[in-house]
Order: sequence, then C-alpha cells, then structure tokens
Amino acid sequence: MLQRSPCPYLFLAPMEGVGDRPFRKAMAYIGGFDEAVTEFIRVPKNAHVQSLARVYNSSELHPLPLAAQLMGSETELMVEMAREIESRGAPRIDLNCGCPSNTVTGRGAGSSLLKEPKLLNEIATAMVKAVNVPVTVKMRTGYEDTSLFKENLLAAQESGIRFITIHPRTKVDGYGPPAKWEYIAEAKALLKIPVVGNGDILNVSDAVRMLSMTGCDALMIGRGAVTNPFIFHQIRAYFEGKEYTPRFEAIVRFFDIFTKEMGSEISIRGKIGKLKQLFSFLFRGSDDLLKVRSVVLTSHANDPDLFLQNALRLLSSRFNYSS
Ligand SMILES: Cc1cc2nc3c(=O)[nH]c(=O)nc-3n(C[C@H](O)[C@H](O)[C@H](O)COP(=O)(O)O)c2cc1C
Repeated sequence: MLQRSPCPYLFLAPMEGVGDRPFRKAMAYIGGFDEAVTEFIRVPKNAHVQSLARVYNSSELHPLPLAAQLMGSETELMVEMAREIESRGAPRIDLNCGCPSNTVTGRGAGSSLLKEPKLLNEIATAMVKAVNVPVTVKMRTGYEDTSLFKENLLAAQESGIRFITIHPRTKVDGYGPPAKWEYIAEAKALLKIPVVGNGDILNVSDAVRMLSMTGCDALMIGRGAVTNPFIFHQIRAYFEGKEYTPRFEAIVRFFDIFTKEMGSEISIRGKIGKLKQLFSFLFRGSDDLLKVRSVVLTSHANDPDLFLQNALRLLSSRFNYSS
C-alpha cells in the first residue's frame, strides 16, 4: 500500500460540505489521484449503523478506490460501523481524529480524541481487530496545543493501523495559520508506519517541498484540488518527467458531471449556492482569475444553468492553471 514510483501515492482529501459525491465524481473524471475518501460519517450515540452506512457506496468512483471515514467516540458502535462499512466493500476505513467542529468535539469525537490518547488507541485497536481491510487514522497535531502529539502518534501506531495522515494544525488553529510541516517530519522520524503529509499543498512545488522537507510517504490534497482540479496530474507529470496541459473542455465536462450528480432533490437556490462555492475556489486558481472572482460570487443568479454558463465564460477567458 502507498508504494508508487516515480510519483508518490496521491489522495484526494475528505472535505465535508465541499468534497461531497458530486465533487468527487467530477474529480474522478479529471483524475490523477490514486484514492479518495468520503467526508466523515458521524457515528453518534445510539446510532443505527445499517441506516448510517447507506450513505457509503464503495463503487462510487470505480475503478478508483473510495475509502470511508468514520467519526465517533463510542468504541462498540465504531466497531459495528466498521464491520458494516467493510461488508459494503470499503477498501479502507479511516478514523477521524481531526474535525474541529464544536458540535462534534462536544461529544468527544473528531479532534477531541486527541485529548485522550488512550481512548484513541482503544477505538483504533478495536476497529483494527474487527475488520480485515486496513484501518487508518487522520489526525491534527493536537487539540489546544501539541503537547500530546507524540503520545497520540504512538497511540495510533500501537493500535495496528496501516498508516497515518497528518494535517499539521491543532483544533484551535482551525484552517487558519499555515500548516506546520515540521510536525509531519516529526511523525515520520518517530513512527514505523507510513505517514501521509497533508496541508497547504497548492501547486507542484509545494508537493515537492513537502516531500523533501518531511520525508513523508504519500500526499493528500484538499483545497488545492478544489482551486485547481488538475493539480494531481500536474504533480504526476512532474515526477514522470512529462508535460501536462490542462484543457478547458475538461472543466466543462467536470461541471456537467457535478450538476448532474447534484440531482433534482436540491433546490435551485441550493444548486446555485453549491456552484458558487466551487467557483469561489476555482477563481483563486490564478491572479487573473482572482481579479474577477467577486463578479462571479456576487452575481444575482436565479437560474443555475445561466449562472454556470456565465461563470464558465469568465473562467475560459482567463484559463491558465500553471503548475
Ligand atoms: C470544507 C472542509 C471540510 C473538511 N472535512 C473533513 C472531513 O470530513 N474529514 C477530515 O478528516 N478532514 C476534513 N477536512 C480537512 C481536510 O481533509 C484537510 O486535512 C485540510 O483541509 C488540510 O488540507 P488542504 O490544505 O490540502 O486542504 C476538511 C477541510 C475543509 C476545508
């Protein structure tokens, strides 16, 4: 697992509310990454795991693998849910130890697990024992501070997980200050299991720098992929010594898939909201795009198709995703 050469293994990061099914499907069309993972699936107290697990479809991105991420703090329920998700064909199950949301952390899940390395270890160990597929952990560097970082790393490793992904910010940092890549290097130096580096990779040179600064085994990219959906191809091309030229037609098809996947259950306002959310990232893709970003985001659209046509027209006139 994670062995790829010359390009390191590339993950599309989980992003609740942004990287949902329509986005993942559209990204799978563009391609370039090796594996994706769902946004967290909450496993609250008294959860009925069979119903909860219905949101997961292992063949969603076929032939690309889609792992499932679970978030909860009740060991027995997490075990039940891991088994249920495994029975639905998940190639890997990831334990969320990073979500900063207070509604989540209030119940002791997500980044709250970083306050209790013993509980983190207990849940991960039980999940590892319960299923045959690899279990992994994705974590931040701590809750309020990084004082338990090493303890949490070792607690995770001792559970028997296959690899760990580090998003090097604390819960309190949110998404604000720059990710502190030195913590990824620290994890790599301490652990025997592979380490996936994540945080603030926005272009090829960031990817190359993270690899050389930290020695991490693989890369995970979230917001950088929403801003530039071609980023994985560009990184791959760099390592394979090839050229990669993004095509505007690929973005048009990306939006065809995205809108089709949004389906008819979502309201017109909801559709426009989702499109604006995506364009708010895409229009950060270059200085030229940034100049016209507000034109797109403040337009008073009430027809999703018209909004999309106009936004794509603006995007095409400045289309230049440099790597
Ligand atoms: C909108 C949004 C939703 C996120 N949802 C999740 C999630 O469901 N599970 C998770 O482990 N991380 C989640 N994250 C964190 C990302 O996976 C990633 O660790 C973080 O954004 C840093 O990577 P990036 O700079 O490449 O985006 C989310 C991030 C964003 C911006």
